[in-house]
Amino acid sequence: MNAPDLTEDDNAEHLGLYQRATESGAEWWRVSVADRPQTYRLEHGVDDAGRVGTVDIDLVVDAENLRAKLKKWRREGFAIDADDNGESDSDLNRRLAFMPELQRVAALASASTAKQRPRADSGETVRIAQVEVPCGVGGALVPPVNAAYLFPARFNDIVEDVVENRRVMLIGHTGAGKTSLIEQIAARSRHGVLRSNMNGQTTVGDFVGFWTVKGGETLWVDGVLPTAMREGLWLIVDEIDFAEPSILAALTAVLEPHGRLVLKEKGNEIVAPHPSFRLFATANAVGAMSQFRHLYQGANLMNEAFLDRWRVYLLDYLTPAEEADVLMRTLAPNMTRTLATTLAAIAADCRAAFAREDLSSAFSTRRLLDWAELMLRTGDPERAAAPAIYAKVSPEDAALIRGIVRHHIAPAD
Ligand SMILES: Nc1ncnc2c1ncn2[C@@H]1O[C@H](COP(=O)(O)OP(=O)(O)OP(=O)(O)O)[C@@H](O)[C@H]1O
Ligand SMILES: [Mg+2]
Repeated sequence: MNAPDLTEDDNAEHLGLYQRATESGAEWWRVSVADRPQTYRLEHGVDDAGRVGTVDIDLVVDAENLRAKLKKWRREGFAIDADDNGESDSDLNRRLAFMPELQRVAALASASTAKQRPRADSGETVRIAQVEVPCGVGGALVPPVNAAYLFPARFNDIVEDVVENRRVMLIGHTGAGKTSLIEQIAARSRHGVLRSNMNGQTTVGDFVGFWTVKGGETLWVDGVLPTAMREGLWLIVDEIDFAEPSILAALTAVLEPHGRLVLKEKGNEIVAPHPSFRLFATANAVGAMSQFRHLYQGANLMNEAFLDRWRVYLLDYLTPAEEADVLMRTLAPNMTRTLATTLAAIAADCRAAFAREDLSSAFSTRRLLDWAELMLRTGDPERAAAPAIYAKVSPEDAALIRGIVRHHIAPAD
């Protein structure tokens, strides 16, 4: 650690974190550039017993005032990180310093980004997971709210990325909840959603747009991408690992937060994104899920440069406790805790068998809910399992799942 160098004229040299040890932690000043030229923002805080303190002083000063402060801090024993002056701490010191330093700057960064959040179209926000999400204007394309939908705290980062206008790709097994997560964020914040599934007949014309003749006139019809961009809708590109290269090429242009689309077929018309436009993708067999590619036949490998333009989240199935909650909430008032806990345990055992490759079919939350619903109607788990599970899998898989069910449910007398 070095004392601030006060002889330098260039105040940019002095940006950074100044700290001194206190009995129970550290006291610090952070110097950053303020909005107006030649002004500096000074933030002060005290960390206690390993806990990062909040900013208790936040002021803007001019260059002369900053120099006076630097002098005062030096007298008081504050020092700036040595790396700024070309001297490096020992590897051990740096290793120990990393986490406290990171926690301090992360706390400061999240306090200042919260202040700079984009305003909602309607001025309202709604709390989803633990994040304030600006609301949209509503409309016919807003998905219906699923009141039984559960937002565990681990979804916070995803919701935060949506607010920050990041491109979010969700990967995971079928029925893990990828599409519904985005739809339920949109439903609660009243944003319209368009979905485009790449595992089918979606052509670049459907996606980007095409010319057509109507009543003797030649008309351009926007595809889903320019429609969502112009109207500020959320676009979910489902099963992106099945998309044709020409669709991926069109997408690449809009992966930057303010990326614009050039409609080459329409005389190079430029489509700029509406501030509410968001882009999402889902995939089963990309990146960390590539090990399961044999289960998702026909999925393409995505290149790293393309993946690097997304925040890619691996979405696992809900835990048994969460899934039991979802069963209770979805099938209320008929589902009981005892039944829900057993059904969630059966799903978890089937997934474990799938992970060991004893079972060749995944066991989705969708499948579990459907089986449970039918079971409540028939009063018979086996009869309900026939159309909800057994008929969809190989005879070997059906036999194994039947064994798991019997292990958890004793037959009625
Ligand atoms: N967190 C949750 N809370 C409540 N229900 C959930 C949750 N996650 C998933 N589900 C249920 O699981 C169903 C399937 O989820 P979804 O269709 O989103 O899966 P997916 O991962 O997109 O599957 P696919 O890869 O087959 O498209 C949802 O309709 C919903 O009923
Ligand atoms: Mg889906």
